[in-house]
Amino acid sequence: MNRKLIAGNWKMNGLRADLPTIREVATAAGASLGGPDVLLCVPATLLSEAAREAAGSALSVGGQTCHPAEKGAFTGDISARMLRELGANYVIVGHSERRTGHGETDEIVASQARAAVNAGLTPILCIGETLAERTAGETLKVIEGQLAGSLSGLDSAASLVLAYEPLWAIGTGKVATAGQIAEVHAFIRKFLVSRYGDAGTGVRILYGGSLNPGNAAEILPIPNVDGGLIGGASLKAGDFLAIYTTARALTV
Ligand code: PGA
Repeated sequence: MNRKLIAGNWKMNGLRADLPTIREVATAAGASLGGPDVLLCVPATLLSEAAREAAGSALSVGGQTCHPAEKGAFTGDISARMLRELGANYVIVGHSERRTGHGETDEIVASQARAAVNAGLTPILCIGETLAERTAGETLKVIEGQLAGSLSGLDSAASLVLAYEPLWAIGTGKVATAGQIAEVHAFIRKFLVSRYGDAGTGVRILYGGSLNPGNAAEILPIPNVDGGLIGGASLKAGDFLAIYTTARALTV
């Protein structure tokens, strides 16, 4: 069993006035000996201050996207090295809001993931089907295509996290059933093992999509669910910590 990772995704939310939320999570996480890993992916503008709040605790901080290139003429973009310099240990790549809103293809996502690894960050690579694809019975085909494309050129599984986030469950309050989650996570695991051998068993696969304190106890114990990627419920320390506490109870 992999150590669970409870990761928050603040998206485009959070100002300096919200730093106490990070402090509260860091304090509650403490040293977290033997417990789950805990992470907040905050806006880049807050990263360095978030890292300062998290210092000395088990809480890590991360970014939400990065450019494939190390540097250059890419107005408005941010590189993996820049995130690393601000104190990030992780970066989300290929979130569906980036794929649909910014035209990020599997090929781009793969190059972002490689840039992250090269900069010393762990990429959290997101995949997931739309409702139309699920309804058409194409979920596993879509997932397989995204995995093959987004992992292209990523030759080591040593620093890699996957996140399965069905698009229809993100921010909607609709959660995939335990059976649906178990099926897709098992499929992803099989793919990772065929691609990376034994190392594929150690890649953490997170579930994301309306994960909250009310459903965490049902979702987190599902086989091959190694944690969660949490949007809305990560904005309030109390909710996020309730999910973390559920994961902790499963770990110890
Ligand atoms: P949600 O978002 O928890 O608000 O559904 C999850 C995500 O987009 O990562």
